[in-house]
Amino acid sequence: MLHLPGGRTPEPEDVVVGPLDLAARVDEALAVQAVAFGLTDEEVGVRRHIVLRHLKSPGARALGATTPSGRLVGFVYGMPNDRTHWWSTVVQPYLRAAGHEDWLDDSFVITELHVHPDYQNRGIGRRLITTITDGAAEPRSILSAIDTDSPARALYRSLGYGDLARPVLFPSAPSPYAVMGAPLPLRR
Ligand SMILES: CC(C)(COP(=O)(O)OP(=O)(O)OC[C@H]1O[C@@H](n2cnc3c(N)ncnc32)[C@H](O)[C@@H]1OP(=O)(O)O)[C@@H](O)C(=O)NCCC(=O)NCCS
Repeated sequence: MLHLPGGRTPEPEDVVVGPLDLAARVDEALAVQAVAFGLTDEEVGVRRHIVLRHLKSPGARALGATTPSGRLVGFVYGMPNDRTHWWSTVVQPYLRAAGHEDWLDDSFVITELHVHPDYQNRGIGRRLITTITDGAAEPRSILSAIDTDSPARALYRSLGYGDLARPVLFPSAPSPYAVMGAPLPLRR
């Protein structure tokens, strides 16, 4: 936990949510993801390539949550869904079977959202996802989350995301996922 002068820990309002040059700060972002979500060093290396490739996609955008000292403590990134992307090809048959394949079009995908554990449960994740989707031209948003009763699932439900397909199995991922979708703007 970072301490401000006087031993004070940063208040939520001290943490600024704004545009993030994720390509330049990918290692800091993956360090947040590694501790928030749990990634091995090997997985970090793989994710690094994926993130840098994603950022070349049309419409890809990232936001960061930064402390007054400039430390990155959370980030979100996403892009308009592209049916040729790996994620979309994996979820497509599940959405199709559930009658929701149309959600793959005109949707803004939340690819990653992570807040450092020391800064969780202070509204930062909510600010990150509502701010990035407020800037989307698409009328809806989709994402996948591990299919369990997690803070992430509770946050997404409270913002209007509903289950579109579950369980969804990603090759090499041990846990089943749920694909969720919400109309934009997200519910406040
Ligand atoms: C999911 C995550 C990004 C949320 O970030 P956050 O800054 O902690 O979330 P917020 O403080 O904005 O909380 C918003 C909502 O999330 C839910 N939530 C947050 N922490 C929670 C907890 N410990 N238990 C249950 N619900 C929780 C609540 O619905 C909360 O709404 P409320 O404040 O009105 O009660 C964060 O928990 C995280 O990084 N988790 C690990 C990585 C991860 O799972 N990422 C998502 C991958 S799909």
